[in-house]
Amino acid sequence: MLRQALLAVSKSRRAERVIAASPLTRDVVRRYVADDAGAAIDALSRTGLRVSVDHLGEEVTGRAQAEGTVAAYLSLLRLLPAGADVSVKLTALGLRLSEELAFEHAAAICRAAAARDVTVTLDAEQHDTIAMLHAVHAALRKEHRDVGVVVQAYLPDSLDRCEQLGDARVRLCKGAYTAPGAYTSTADIDRSFVRCLKVLMAGAGYPMVATHDPRLVRIASTLAVLDGRDPAGFEYQMLYGVRPDEQARLAALGFTMRVYVPYGADWYPYLMRRLAERPRNLAFFLRSLLSR
Ligand code: FDA
Repeated sequence: MLRQALLAVSKSRRAERVIAASPLTRDVVRRYVADDAGAAIDALSRTGLRVSVDHLGEEVTGRAQAEGTVAAYLSLLRLLPAGADVSVKLTALGLRLSEELAFEHAAAICRAAAARDVTVTLDAEQHDTIAMLHAVHAALRKEHRDVGVVVQAYLPDSLDRCEQLGDARVRLCKGAYTAPGAYTSTADIDRSFVRCLKVLMAGAGYPMVATHDPRLVRIASTLAVLDGRDPAGFEYQMLYGVRPDEQARLAALGFTMRVYVPYGADWYPYLMRRLAERPRNLAFFLRSLLSR
């Protein structure tokens, strides 16, 4: 219920104006969104963590805005070390205007990223964009084999997706939105996550295990051993500001741990999704508002 309400609020421009206008929100934003992307990337890299950097923004409705997103990624790419990744939302590249436009924009980012030895991963967004996401991903892979894509385990067809993705880089996550027909119970989502994980770990691609859930992290490590995948054959991914000790622990064990680092002014929907994931976060948010 609370999750649904927060996700609904994440789409409200009116709520955004009220929440974003409050100077009290800043501390909460800072927990999840890098204030200074360059400094955050340097700090994470120094401790042996990899990064996937997200220039925040989504659901753009104008061509100029979409071109602005591309320009922001091209600037970002100039700062990133080799081996970094950028996470890209197709709706920030103009997907709502046309699939072709989003493809052209994503291809420009892929070309610039390849020149810097940086990979690109396409985020999965609202359910009505998923078919287009996979069409764009497949088209991009004709030229950029290593472009990755996110699969959301809460979608019942996620297992088929994992099977179809063959040798691709696939980031598996639980899913942060709502979708008709999607699994909603923790048990169903976790079971789906494990089914997908089994296919990805046994398959020919590169699995990116994007979860903070300790049980799923353990299952991923076990499956990697059973499938004879060495630690270079897959990676863990977690969000900036979430379970940093666990991020450090997994990196110290020799696993590749990549931190998803969002930055930029358009943080509102991203923050609301993080609050929706965990009711305790909402309490933390309200406490920080009230304690001023
Ligand atoms: P779960 O929500 O069960 O959390 C497990 C534990 O992790 C919690 O008990 C808590 O300790 C901690 N935790 C989790 N979320 C937290 C939070 N927000 N704040 C504080 N602690 C928290 N989704 C999507 O739909 N499309 C996408 O493209 C992506 N991309 C993506 C990239 C990466 C690198 C990650 C890690 C996640 C995503 N997600 C995503 C989000 C994902 O779908 C999911 O909503 C969150 O990761 C939370 O789910 P967990 O698997 O962590 O489990």
